[in-house]
Amino acid sequence: MERTLILVKPDAVQRGLTGEIITRFERKGLKLVGARFLQISNDLAARHYAVHKSKPFYNDLIKYITSGPVMAMALEGKGAVAVCRKLMGATFGKDAEPGTIRGDFAMDKLNIVHGSDSIENAEYEISLYFKPDDLVEYELNNGRWIN
Ligand code: CMP
Repeated sequence: MERTLILVKPDAVQRGLTGEIITRFERKGLKLVGARFLQISNDLAARHYAVHKSKPFYNDLIKYITSGPVMAMALEGKGAVAVCRKLMGATFGKDAEPGTIRGDFAMDKLNIVHGSDSIENAEYEISLYFKPDDLVEYELNNGRWIN
C-alpha cells in the first residue's frame, strides 16, 4: 500500500495545531504507520531538501524547518501521496482553497505542513526519518469501512 511522509512544521507545532492536522489525515482514512516528534538538524534538513539546493529560497527553507520541533509521520493509504497533497492544498496559504489544511490555517510562506510530492520521494523521505523497524504493520479496525 502507498505511503507518504508528512511533517507538521515548526509554525504549526508552535501554534498548537499538531493534533488538528493529524486529525485531518486520520478522518480522511489515512493510516498512521509511523510517528516521531523531533528537532530537525541542519544535516537532515539538507538531505530532505537537497532537490531545492539551487533555489533562491533554500537558505530560508532550511532556517524555517530547523526553527523548532516538527511531528514527522508516515501515512498509508490508496494513492496516499496525491490524497495528502490535496488535503494540504496549494503551497502557500494565500493560494490554498478553504477546507484544505493550508487554506484553513496558513497565510503566507510558513505553510504549516509538508507532504511528499511523488511516490519515489516519499520512499526516500520516509527513510530519512524512520528505520524500517519504526514503521508498524497493522490492520485498522475500521479499515473495511474505508476501503
Ligand atoms: P514543502 O512542502 O515543505 O516543500 C518544499 C518547500 O519549499 C515548500 O513546502 C515551501 O515551504 C518552500 N517553497 C517552495 N517554493 C518556495 C518559494 N517560491 N519561496 C519560498 N519557499 C518556497
